[in-house]
Amino acid sequence: MLPPFKIKSVEPVYTTTRDYRIKRIKQVGYNPFLLPATDITVDLLTDSGTSAMSDRQWAGIMMGDESYAGSSNFKHLKESVQDIMGFPYTLPAHQGRGAEKILDRALVKRGQIIPGNIHFDTTKAHIEDAGGRAVDCTIDEIYDPQSTHPFKGNVNLDKLETAIKQDPANVAYVLITITCNSGGGQPVSLANIKAVARITRKYNCLLFIDAARYAENAYFIKERESGYKKWIVKQIAHEIFSVTDGCTMSAKKDALVNIGGFIGLKSKELYKKMVPLCVLLEGFPTYGGMNGRDMEAIAIGLHEGVDENYLRHRTGQVADLGEQMKKSGIPVLVPFGGHAVYIDAKKFFPHIKREHFPGQALAIEFYIEGGIRVVGIDAVLAGRDPDTGKNIFPELELVRLAIPRRVYMKEHLDYVAECAAKIWNRRKLVRGVQFDFESPIMRHFQSTFKVI
Ligand code: F0G
Repeated sequence: MLPPFKIKSVEPVYTTTRDYRIKRIKQVGYNPFLLPATDITVDLLTDSGTSAMSDRQWAGIMMGDESYAGSSNFKHLKESVQDIMGFPYTLPAHQGRGAEKILDRALVKRGQIIPGNIHFDTTKAHIEDAGGRAVDCTIDEIYDPQSTHPFKGNVNLDKLETAIKQDPANVAYVLITITCNSGGGQPVSLANIKAVARITRKYNCLLFIDAARYAENAYFIKERESGYKKWIVKQIAHEIFSVTDGCTMSAKKDALVNIGGFIGLKSKELYKKMVPLCVLLEGFPTYGGMNGRDMEAIAIGLHEGVDENYLRHRTGQVADLGEQMKKSGIPVLVPFGGHAVYIDAKKFFPHIKREHFPGQALAIEFYIEGGIRVVGIDAVLAGRDPDTGKNIFPELELVRLAIPRRVYMKEHLDYVAECAAKIWNRRKLVRGVQFDFESPIMRHFQSTFKVI
């Protein structure tokens, strides 16, 4: 697979010895989040904000217009959003969750529901912060790591309609997350998005898209859904957004930048309702918490993000890593996601009880084996039930290997696959962990552990 870019600027890859890593991971309480980046060889913690920008984006950075009001970079950003997504109104925000906060403050009233496919953590947290409740209406296949359904992120239309029908006035809006990160980076089909839009129109509800990885989703539609082979990805993206009322976007993913976000909107009325909230929470509506130069990088990155040569290489790189691990016998979630390979930690370590956190144990082993940083989307992350105080054990206990965009070469990912195979071969010797310090909120960031 020919990479559609070549390298102009490089940064070092840090290598360490196994003994050093065993010592360091113990020192930080067996939590890879607490390791400095210079202790990491291949960092697959997230694909968010970790992209390599292009020479054009760096050139755009030099064209930053840092005017408080009316920055020309904002004008450029607005034009890109209009061109690719078709939204006439853009509200900038410092990142995805900034956009979510504005949206939820504007639309959610206490007690209302926000149905959709699995909501991302920050999305759910902002909905709850505004007094709403996220209702998961994803199809059942998402919870089966071996189901090869091509669009496992799809919304179950019956579940959705049932949730809405009870009281359509109690629905703040419907949200489709593309791709569905918490379910394994799985795409949603265009047919499904259109069917959801028919339901929201029928009940007069708003429909929004969490567009963090919309370009990867659009590429999967082109590849997997009949009727779209000849469409260009930009056209598919346009078609997706055309049936919605707007989107929130973490530009740190498919806009190929290190920071930034926005809300795209169709209606002037909604825009006018959200402008004061943007001023209050993020900044004046022509910068919204970003520098002018950041907005320029997004304006350019949005176009690069829908380039098909880039997307073919990007999704191919993820699938290649997934295939290599599958060949070694490792229980990976299929089909491979757009931005990450997910490992089924329960199947990897069937001898480790769930209360001893097999996902965390696997993340520790990736670090010890090869200085590789990965993250559990697992029971440590899920936390405790606020009523009973008991651990929540989510349906899936996953470990995510998220691939930064345009950063690592095939050799880096081959190395990751080799290390994964070595851990797999000695898996029976790996032990689970328990909390040493349990952080009261978002416990996977700050907690420390002891090996059992
Ligand atoms: N929506 C989705 C689907 C996301 O994956 C994220 C972030 C956000 C919203 C929030 O955006 O970080 O810019 O505030 N996901 C990152 C991740 C953190 O690692 O998956 P943000």
